[in-house]
Amino acid sequence: MTKEIFAFPAPFVKTAPKNAIPVIFASAKDVKKTHKTQTDQNGFSGNPKEVCFIYDSKGRLETVYAGRSETFSPYDSAAAAEYIRKNLSDAVLKKAVFDFKGLNKKDMSAAYTGWGWASYRFERYKKTKTIFPKLYLPKNAPTNEINAQVEAVSLIRNLVNTPSSDLGTKELEAVVKKIGTQFKAKVTSIVDKDLLKKNFPMIYHVGKASPRRPRLVELNWGKAKDPKITIVGKGVVFDTGGLNLKPPRFMLLMKKDMGGAAQAIGLAYMIMAMKLPVNLKLLVCAAENSVDGNAFRPGDVLPTRAGYTVEVGDTDAEGRLVIGDALTYAAEGKPDLMVDFCTLTGAARVALGPDIPALFANKDKTAQDIVKGSFECEDPVWQLPLWAPYFKSYSSDVADFGNDDSTGYGGAIKAGLFLQKFAGEKTDWVHVDCFAWSQSDTPGRPKGGADTGMRAMYQYIAKRFG
Ligand code: BES
Ligand code: ZN
Ligand code: ZN
Repeated sequence: MTKEIFAFPAPFVKTAPKNAIPVIFASAKDVKKTHKTQTDQNGFSGNPKEVCFIYDSKGRLETVYAGRSETFSPYDSAAAAEYIRKNLSDAVLKKAVFDFKGLNKKDMSAAYTGWGWASYRFERYKKTKTIFPKLYLPKNAPTNEINAQVEAVSLIRNLVNTPSSDLGTKELEAVVKKIGTQFKAKVTSIVDKDLLKKNFPMIYHVGKASPRRPRLVELNWGKAKDPKITIVGKGVVFDTGGLNLKPPRFMLLMKKDMGGAAQAIGLAYMIMAMKLPVNLKLLVCAAENSVDGNAFRPGDVLPTRAGYTVEVGDTDAEGRLVIGDALTYAAEGKPDLMVDFCTLTGAARVALGPDIPALFANKDKTAQDIVKGSFECEDPVWQLPLWAPYFKSYSSDVADFGNDDSTGYGGAIKAGLFLQKFAGEKTDWVHVDCFAWSQSDTPGRPKGGADTGMRAMYQYIAKRFG
């Protein structure tokens, strides 16, 4: 069942092939200096995403030149892989093995990873005949890092692309258990009514209407002496909106409402695969927001782990409820850094579009460092403020506060403020409101489930704690 979720692309060949076709990356500067004679006949100028085939006298493909950015980008090699796939016949692709020549050591990770990302396919329900070009992965390449990057991103894509019919709360739990076994981590979960007993009422109430019972899945890995990193993910396996039912066009894509959990799982995967010296805790809040006679309703007042009472104004603002108690629990553990990922608001998408998650943080320095690094690794995130005066709009006549604000202004900021109530203001906490979906097909970034913010956060954690 979980097998398909762990289907990773396998474009890499580990034994040195005899007649490999060299792929040479050249920037515009390189072309001017060294490659002039061989490439200018085809008008190749070394700009990123440009590719040029050189044939021998018998008409066989001899060399591939590919453009590159000054700082090597994984999307440079993804573009080369894509061009090769589209412009060579299946007969050639079946036999050919490509081989990167003349790469700097520091560019290897990005180069091989991009090719891996470009070889992704989601074939669970429809097999394609597409043949992806094979690439020789030499022994001196940073294989562990390349595999971790390809696998973590593919895992996110598979998780998000898999429809809710095959990815319920139990299946999401099974995925965490599987990576727990792979990396010798400890995985436990609190299921259904036990959530009430253990004082996680909000996850329970949001998820209680679904036959796929709500659960909080916890993974622990690493040494107690190392810095404590806690990652929380919104795992709403389907968001109908609840009794405040979403209109059809807004419900259509809601299989991806566990996209935050997917980022969280992908990040945990990276951290464990790369053996970062941290004490990791992953919390996946898995629930389905369904409609039923037993569903939580507008006007209901929910108790919370933090002690506040919350009046439900809108059952479609379920994300903040689902992860609120987990944030309180996470903060109780006094982590050195706490990060949550959620597909929380349409407002964050209106503000920044699908590809740039909104980032919120208790500490400005943390946010600024993450933002800076995010652009360097081409996984941009952008900070929005936790502007406290906006919290006023959550007022309730019967409870401490409500869960929605119907003004239509600043929805992403207000959702962040709601979470902050549960995360507390003292923790070095970061909240990522992301889309987990790529709207367009570009080389190395296919349409569908996508990493949004996961790599930015990994770079940051690796730099700060690695
Ligand atoms: N899962 C949605 C948010 C969402 C919608 C993310 C579309 C990405 C794309 C969330 O549960 C939701 O419905 N939020 C509401 C909140 C509102 C009712 C206060 C929203 O953003 O409209
Ligand atoms: Zn919702
Ligand atoms: Zn939702």
